[in-house]
Amino acid sequence: MFAVGHYPDFHPDSAIKRAEEHATKNGVKCTFLVADVLGDLENVTETFDFAYDWELLHHIFLEQRQQYVANVHRLLNPKGKYLSLCFNESDPAFGGAGKYRRTPLGTVLYFSSLGELRALFEPCFTILELRTVEIHSKSASHLASYCFMERREVNGP
Ligand SMILES: C[S@@+](CC[C@H](N)C(=O)[O-])C[C@H]1O[C@@H](n2cnc3c(N)ncnc32)[C@H](O)[C@@H]1O
Repeated sequence: MFAVGHYPDFHPDSAIKRAEEHATKNGVKCTFLVADVLGDLENVTETFDFAYDWELLHHIFLEQRQQYVANVHRLLNPKGKYLSLCFNESDPAFGGAGKYRRTPLGTVLYFSSLGELRALFEPCFTILELRTVEIHSKSASHLASYCFMERREVNGP
């Protein structure tokens, strides 16, 4: 499995340490690394059956998204599955309107529509499920776009 994002509110090194401790405690063999998902990811030499992106995509703006999707596509095996979840534009959070919204932490997030995600993913993936879901957390609930896909072969340029 290739999963992106890390424990929020931690420096990447301490997030990795925590993740390693958690995996060891639960007897799960994992490899963790810190990388920019928009980079060339040259340290990732394996390919995977499943990629999982939990609330990372809304940090990536439109002009960078194709690079991100190309990276995920490259890291998946043929017919590999990809689950992506990100903020949906119908969510009332952080001002309640607009595609770009500033959070109290000072970060700016992009709120997608389902149509935008379909257009983004469809060139590289067969969409198996695409819908708005409600995510419940300790502090509040929010609306997210849930997209479950299967990698398909893409003809070169
Ligand atoms: C909202 S958090 C979600 C983290 C985790 N998946 C979770 O649910 O707790 C989004 C994460 O994406 C990371 N992130 C944003 N842009 C990134 C990039 N270009 N490469 C790698 N990570 C990135 C942020 O540092 C942050 O940890």
